[in-house]
Amino acid sequence: MSKPTFLAIVTLLATIAHRATGFIPASQYNQAAVLINDTIYVFGGSIIRPYTTVKSLYSLDISQPWISTNPSWVDLTITTGNSTVPLSDSHAMWPSADGESFYVWGGGNSRGQPLLQSGFAQYNTVTRNWTLPSAIINMPQQRDYISASWTSSGVAYIWAGEGDYYTGRPAVYQTFPTFYRLSKISFS
Ligand SMILES: *[C@@H]1O[C@H](CO)[C@@H](O)[C@H](O)[C@H]1NC(C)=O
Ligand SMILES: *[C@@H]1O[C@H](CO)[C@@H](O)[C@H](O)[C@H]1NC(C)=O
Ligand SMILES: *[C@@H]1O[C@H](CO)[C@@H](O)[C@H](O)[C@H]1NC(C)=O
Repeated sequence: MSKPTFLAIVTLLATIAHRATGFIPASQYNQAAVLINDTIYVFGGSIIRPYTTVKSLYSLDISQPWISTNPSWVDLTITTGNSTVPLSDSHAMWPSADGESFYVWGGGNSRGQPLLQSGFAQYNTVTRNWTLPSAIINMPQQRDYISASWTSSGVAYIWAGEGDYYTGRPAVYQTFPTFYRLSKISFS
């Protein structure tokens, strides 16, 4: 076999292997996403019809180029089977200061089920397991449609949101003009 032919076959096989790792996530909305180093993580959200909240977790390595019609998504949903992993959409998501985990907080779900610890949970991208950060003092009431931003030292700021049927409250809408500062161990 000539060298150019050999290289072409190697390239073709590499392309097939690269494509084979990707899969196409189902269409959904109100999920949250965060970038940790060179990987995007997308967690939670809902399928539109019938409205069903899902615990899906997908990652996409952006350190390598990919074909735009077939990004190399990796399905990590197998890690979310634990019942303590929050069933949430319209939640907040941010990275930990050590760059190895992400946190999620708040959100609602199609079952109208209140979440443990207002939906506060941590996923370690290295060990690939979920934990509930230990009990929090001054935990704010669970809410959905929130925004969060964070500092490199691991403090997250959460703004506003709404309490409604989907956050496990009676069907009364209540908006929160409040501003929370959240570190790993306390809300203030
Ligand atoms: C992300 O980068 C930081 C800083 O280099 C490193 O400490 C951390 O372990 C990295 N995270 C992962 C998941 O590789
Ligand atoms: C998390 O991962 C570590 C390392 O793989 C393992 O020792 C530990 O048991 C895991 N924890 C849970 C709650 O699964
Ligand atoms: C689910 O996660 C919780 C919190 O980390 C842990 O205590 C529990 O052992 C886990 N359960 C299973 C079945 O993995």
